[in-house]
Amino acid sequence: MPHKENGLFQVFIVNKIRKENAHTQTLMMNASLPDAFPGQFVMAWLPGIGEKPFSISGNDPLTLTVCDVGPVSHVLCQLEAGNRLWVRGPLGKGFVLSGEAHILVGGGYGAAPLSFLAKQARELGQEVTVCLGAKTKADLIMVEQFEDLGCQVLLATEDGIAGEQGLVSLPLLRAIEQNMAAGVYACGPTGMLLAVWQLCRRFQIPTQLSFEALIRCGIGLCGSCELSEETCQLLGISSGFLVCHDGPVVIPEG
Ligand SMILES: Cc1cc2nc3c(=O)[nH]c(=O)nc-3n(C[C@H](O)[C@H](O)[C@H](O)COP(=O)(O)OP(=O)(O)OC[C@H]3O[C@@H](n4cnc5c(N)ncnc54)[C@H](O)[C@@H]3O)c2cc1C
Ligand code: FES
Repeated sequence: MPHKENGLFQVFIVNKIRKENAHTQTLMMNASLPDAFPGQFVMAWLPGIGEKPFSISGNDPLTLTVCDVGPVSHVLCQLEAGNRLWVRGPLGKGFVLSGEAHILVGGGYGAAPLSFLAKQARELGQEVTVCLGAKTKADLIMVEQFEDLGCQVLLATEDGIAGEQGLVSLPLLRAIEQNMAAGVYACGPTGMLLAVWQLCRRFQIPTQLSFEALIRCGIGLCGSCELSEETCQLLGISSGFLVCHDGPVVIPEG
């Protein structure tokens, strides 16, 4: 069991590391986070460095997938087996599987929470198609993990070296045409999420979208993670949506 400190942080120890691509690695901890659901996140803290939110890519053991883009993520990507990591969570509202056949759509490290969701769905014997998009083949992550889970995997890259050439909405359209799924679950940059939403609305497929925002407190107190008025309007949800507390998963209304 991880050690609990101040009743707030749990201290985990990095047990194993898997390199996903040149800038991204997955940290597998020494213990599980038993109450976590796919789509929820944790606040990961390194004393003297900082604290940032990370999607849970697995809960047994707790697994986080980190892309090296700035000061905190850079140090997280330097961690080695045996190093400690302070974690608050699980936090937020995650994905809820509904129906028997699902399409998962990931852009960049958006694949991370989807791998946890795919595992849950496959353990229930459900059908999963995963559409992954990235700039180049080298930027794609977790393709083999999804294949090993028995998911159908469709790819899109901007240079066309892996899968279709273009954005992830291309394989998504293909997946929808092949097999009308009960639901679409997406995680990635805001532009990608809004494009996924437009496509799914056209086909009237229930959609769940996991958004990113500037998360500070992580528990609905500071207001820094509020979705923009414009995004709320596009999604048909009430304004004042706090990504950390009401999300990160949004179920659009219209
Ligand atoms: C709910 C939620 C879940 C998240 N899950 C993950 C996750 O599973 N894995 C993960 O790696 N990160 C995840 N993030 C992002 C993470 O919290 C940090 O924002 C990220 O690690 C950058 O923090 P930093 O302090 O290293 O750099 P910062 O100083 O915050 O950022 C450095 C620079 O990089 C830019 N930047 C930030 N993110 C990206 C990006 N994705 N691509 C390119 N440039 C970027 C910033 O705009 C800034 O200019 C998540 C964020 C949220 C809100
Ligand atoms: S991060 Fe403080 S309210 Fe969401």
